[in-house]
Amino acid sequence: MQTIFSGIQPSGTITLGNYIGAMKQFVELQDDYNCHFCIVDQHAITVPQDRLALRKNIRSLAALYIAVGIDPTKSTLFIQSEVPAHTEAGWMLQCVAYIGELERMTQFKDKSAGKEAVSAGLLTYPPLMAADILLYKTDLVPVGEDQKQHLELTRDLAERFNKKYNDIFTIPEVRIPKVGARVMSLQEPTKKMSKSDPNQKAFITILDEPKVIEKKIKSAVTDSEGIVRFDKENKPGISNLMSIYSILGNVSIEEIERMYDGKGYGDFKADTAKVVVEALAPIQQRYYELIDSEELDQILDAGAEKANFVANKMLRKMRNAMGLGRKR
Ligand code: TYM
Repeated sequence: MQTIFSGIQPSGTITLGNYIGAMKQFVELQDDYNCHFCIVDQHAITVPQDRLALRKNIRSLAALYIAVGIDPTKSTLFIQSEVPAHTEAGWMLQCVAYIGELERMTQFKDKSAGKEAVSAGLLTYPPLMAADILLYKTDLVPVGEDQKQHLELTRDLAERFNKKYNDIFTIPEVRIPKVGARVMSLQEPTKKMSKSDPNQKAFITILDEPKVIEKKIKSAVTDSEGIVRFDKENKPGISNLMSIYSILGNVSIEEIERMYDGKGYGDFKADTAKVVVEALAPIQQRYYELIDSEELDQILDAGAEKANFVANKMLRKMRNAMGLGRKR
C-alpha cells in the first residue's frame, strides 16, 4: 500500500476551499492508501496567533477531520507539535535548503508583503513542510493548487539530501484535484478563497449556518451576462459557483449548464446555496457531537503514538546520514 501525508493549518475556521481542495480528497483516498493527516500547528505559529484561539482551532480542526469522514481506524490523525520529530527533521532540512529558494516561494512573498516584522519561521516554513512529508516515506501528497510550489521544493530537498548524505527519502508526488483545486473568493473571484480574508463575505466556512451560507452566495460577485455558462477567464464568479455546485452536488458542469439553460442567476444561486447547506449539514452535526468528547482525545492520543513511532524511525536515519550524535 502506498503512503499519503497531508496537513492543514489550524489558523482559523476551515473554508469550503480547504474542504473541496483537500479534505474531500482525503476521505476518498483513505481506503486505498496508508494515510497520515496532520493538524500542522507548528506551521500556524509562523504568523502571530492568539494562544487561546489557537488551542481552540486545533481541537476544532481535529473534530472536523473526523466529521468530514476521516476514519481513525484507517488513517492516522495527529497534531504536529505532539510529534517532535517534525521540528527536528525540519531543522536538518533547513540546513539543506538555500535562502534564495525559500525567498522565491510565493506563499512567503504574499504573507510577508508590506509587513514590517516577518518571523524567520515564515521563511523556513517550507523545510518544515518537507519534513512533515518525508518523515513518513510519503508517496503521494493530496493538496490544493496553492501548495504545488512547496511540493516541488520538498522534492528538491529530498533529492539533494539523498545525493549529499544517504539515499533514505522517498520522492513524493503531488496530487491536485481536477475540479476544485482552487476554490475562489466569493467577492473577488480571481483570488483564492482564504480563511485569512478580512472580508467575511468572501469565504464560506464548514461551520457556517444555512442562513449565512444563503446570504454569502446570494451576494457572490458574478457578471452581467445572465447566462449560467462555465468560462473561468471571462466569468470567474459564475464558474466558481458552478465548480462548488458540481463537486458538492455530484453533478457535472455540462449538466448544470443544461439545467439552468434559460434561467437566471437568482435560481442558480439559490440552488447552489441549497447544495452547499445540504452537503455541510451532516458534517456540522457530527462536529458538534465530537467537539467536547473524550473520543476525540482518544483518537488524537492514538494518532500521536502511531505517528511518533513511524517518524522517529526516519529521524534516526536522518541523524545517522548527517553524522549527528552517536550511532544508533
Ligand atoms: P492550508 O492550511 O493553507 O490549506 C489546507 C489545504 O487546503 C487547500 N486549500 C485550497 N484548495 C482549494 N481552494 C482553495 N481556495 C484553498 N485554500 C486552501 C490547500 O492547498 C491545502 O491542501 N502548507 C500547507 C499545510 C501543510 C501541508 C504539509 C500540506 C503543512 N505541512 C504537508 C501538505 C503536506 C498549508 O498552508 O495549507
